[in-house]
Amino acid sequence: MKRALQNIITQMNHYKRVTSNTFKINNYNEMKNRLLLLLTVFFLLFSCKKSIQPEIYIEHIEKGNNISALAQAALLTNVAAAIQTGGPAYAVEFCNLKASGITDSLNNVFNCTISRISAKNRNTENALVSATDKELWAIFEKGMVADTVVQLDEKLVFYKSIRTTMPACLKCHGVPGTDIDSVTVQKIQTLYPSDLATSYKLNDFRGLWKIEFSAP
Ligand code: HEC
Repeated sequence: MKRALQNIITQMNHYKRVTSNTFKINNYNEMKNRLLLLLTVFFLLFSCKKSIQPEIYIEHIEKGNNISALAQAALLTNVAAAIQTGGPAYAVEFCNLKASGITDSLNNVFNCTISRISAKNRNTENALVSATDKELWAIFEKGMVADTVVQLDEKLVFYKSIRTTMPACLKCHGVPGTDIDSVTVQKIQTLYPSDLATSYKLNDFRGLWKIEFSAP
């Protein structure tokens, strides 16, 4: 038990160095709470699942970050152009990753499967499905981590937090009737009758990139 804990702390320090900018610690109490939570997180991630070699972990963190940045940039370019052309209501149909063809080409080039998931999803296809999705959601929701890689059977899965970092996000994910204009509200309701993805504020936690790779 003691050894397992020590291993976890060593691993933790290692990953902390790698992703140091994802841990923002303000004061001692907060630090203590965060450490306790971190320990729980690392127990969850490393005790029950196969542990990943540090090089493999880092390689997939980098790959995941690059791929999600490309997907995000492509998606935003499409949405911004569509907003320019016909306003937010017109742009609603340009926010679907699959329809945009972005994921197909990235999946082919990088040999992975890209998706976005959220507990408060607009498209029910983007719901949390696996137990790991749900476990990790709870951790990401607390703002503890910005990204991670876990091994599940023959897969390495990269997760990264998505936030409503731009005021433009609120045109479709903010408060209906104020941030989201009424024409857009109607369009969203028609296309997504069980939409849960509204009433966000700027910089809220909105969802996760989930990118699956086959394990080396
Ligand atoms: C023009 C409207 C519009 C804008 C602007 C917009 N979204 Fe969306 N968003 C949507 C629609 C529509 C979906 C559902 C897409 C689908 O069918 O997969 C969606 C889905 C998502 C999802 C996937 C999970 C889910 O709820 O289905 C995330 C994450 C997300 N948006 C984040 C953002 C962020 C972050 C921004 C700002 C950078 C943003 N969106 C801007 C309309 C928009």
